[in-house]
Amino acid sequence: MAGRIPESFINDLIARVDIVDVIDEHVPLKKAGRNYQARCPFHDERTPSFSVSPDKQFYYCFGCGASGTAIGFLMDYLHMDFPEAVHELAGRAGMTVPVEAGFKGRTGDVERLYALLAQAQQHYSAQLKDHPQSERAKEYLKGRGLDGRTAAAFQLGFAPAGWDNLLKALGTDNEKIRDLEAAGLLIRKDDGGHYDRFRERIMFPILDQRGRVIGFGGRVLGDEEPKYLNSPETPLFHKGRELYGLFQARKASRQLPRLFVVEGYMDVIALHQHGVTNAVATLGTATTPDHLERLFKTTPEVVFCFDGDEAGRKAAWRALEVSLPVLREGRHVSFLFMPAGEDPDSLVRKDGPAVFNNPKRFTPLSDFLFDSLLAQINPNTDEGRARLVDLAKPLLAGVPAGAYKQLLAQRLAKLAGMDVPTVAALVGAKSVKRVPAYPPSAGSARRSPSLVRAAIRLLLHKPPLAVKLEPPPDLRNLTLPGVPLLQELWELARAQPGMNSAAVLEHWRDREEVSHLRKLLMDEIPADEEGAEHEFKAAVSKLCALAGKKDAVAAPDKRPSELSEEEKNALRGRFKSGKPSKKSP
Ligand code: UTP
Ligand code: MN
Repeated sequence: MAGRIPESFINDLIARVDIVDVIDEHVPLKKAGRNYQARCPFHDERTPSFSVSPDKQFYYCFGCGASGTAIGFLMDYLHMDFPEAVHELAGRAGMTVPVEAGFKGRTGDVERLYALLAQAQQHYSAQLKDHPQSERAKEYLKGRGLDGRTAAAFQLGFAPAGWDNLLKALGTDNEKIRDLEAAGLLIRKDDGGHYDRFRERIMFPILDQRGRVIGFGGRVLGDEEPKYLNSPETPLFHKGRELYGLFQARKASRQLPRLFVVEGYMDVIALHQHGVTNAVATLGTATTPDHLERLFKTTPEVVFCFDGDEAGRKAAWRALEVSLPVLREGRHVSFLFMPAGEDPDSLVRKDGPAVFNNPKRFTPLSDFLFDSLLAQINPNTDEGRARLVDLAKPLLAGVPAGAYKQLLAQRLAKLAGMDVPTVAALVGAKSVKRVPAYPPSAGSARRSPSLVRAAIRLLLHKPPLAVKLEPPPDLRNLTLPGVPLLQELWELARAQPGMNSAAVLEHWRDREEVSHLRKLLMDEIPADEEGAEHEFKAAVSKLCALAGKKDAVAAPDKRPSELSEEEKNALRGRFKSGKPSKKSP
């Protein structure tokens, strides 16, 4: 969706709203020097490492690495999607979001499907209330212990027996019938006719993050097969991405410090009714990386609930494998195994919510990992311990570098009776990147950044630098990594001189490089314009020297303040659009 709101509008919006106001509303900020700070809302901490820069219009946390613009904050903190966040900010700034030509026609189709699915949900709900067959459905739900309030919160419905109830109710013309088929609600027969997909089933609407119906699950009332029928993949519904119950979980509490991932619709609903409103379910599929991304956008802690039996352990292991590559500081995964023969639905109805509220009952991912591996080897032999390392190696290797990986390596070393550096090297945890101390002082030993990186960083922090100097043609001859990005950034900031750092990030929101840029924006650069300009020109001139022509752009080695007037004038003459820089007070 990002591309459909004109970019110039995003630039204006970013320039108009103040990120400090936006964040302060949700996370009270304290002034600290030029920036504002608070305890990070994205991870647990006692001392504030969350910083908001009014200059950069950017927030960042030195503890967990969270960072972004005002738009990004609303997306990450309030879980809005991009258009929602843009509309929200535009509303505050009294701006109307324009829509690019061509947008209407394309959304039209999708909007029609949303509307139709909402109508279908209302239809099924109405059938549950007063269809002649609905007594059976109500009895069924009552038999499963559901109260009316919960049924309403999940908008449950009923599809009575019959092949064309929905077809007759909503398929009033050919276009509607075609749309109902596209929405997955009707199935097309060989002779061109249609019939209802869902018949004689309890209907569970599947909602997206904004609460719009995007699909359905339907359960039989007895023992027929298949027990559950789900919507097929449609333009709105992608099974491997959706989490059933996420909308209701977010509605129940604004902050979600933890989410349970359970297997079934009824598990989510029963837990919710018993006060465990923070449960979601995958839709009959194993947990996917998409699921995890979505989960960790919403919460720092994921607890997978699986049966204690063999199948449940297998599913848990798969969940572990998918989780390892996305684990980093501030993200926790653990497991809660159900006693034999129980699922969360039956357990919470029998024993109440206590076990779900007691983190001591959760098995940390690392315990589950090592316990599972230890069960496969004999720790009393060298061969067994070597095998342990072999088994653990590919798993640990996939964990992103950081403190957590280091801890896993330490634990493996202890279990295998090996020294930590050897094991750490084996799993690639040797050089843990240190999180910079907060706040990094501008002058302190900076990690001697490459010239290209230095130039990109300066331009990113101060996009107006781009107009002080034309990108030298020699730059093109350089094959260093990052040069194309530098060139692109330079041209962008020249073409749109009003852009600030945050607008640049938004411009590149969907690009891979953006995470790199966000990291660069967390660094500090010289506060004064003159110092920054000097450093930028110095970096560029060194790059040009590298490219082969030493005097293409000559820059002094001294800081401007150390130059004589003569030297300064000589220097100014060398830069094409080099206006004399303003003297800082
Ligand atoms: P379960 O069989 O564990 O379901 O399947 P459940 O929620 O415990 O079922 P009941 O209602 O209490 O008996 C877990 C999930 O797997 C998917 C559904 O999403 C279900 O909630 N599933 C299961 C299907 O898609 N089709 C099926 O036939 C069975
Ligand atoms: Mn069940």
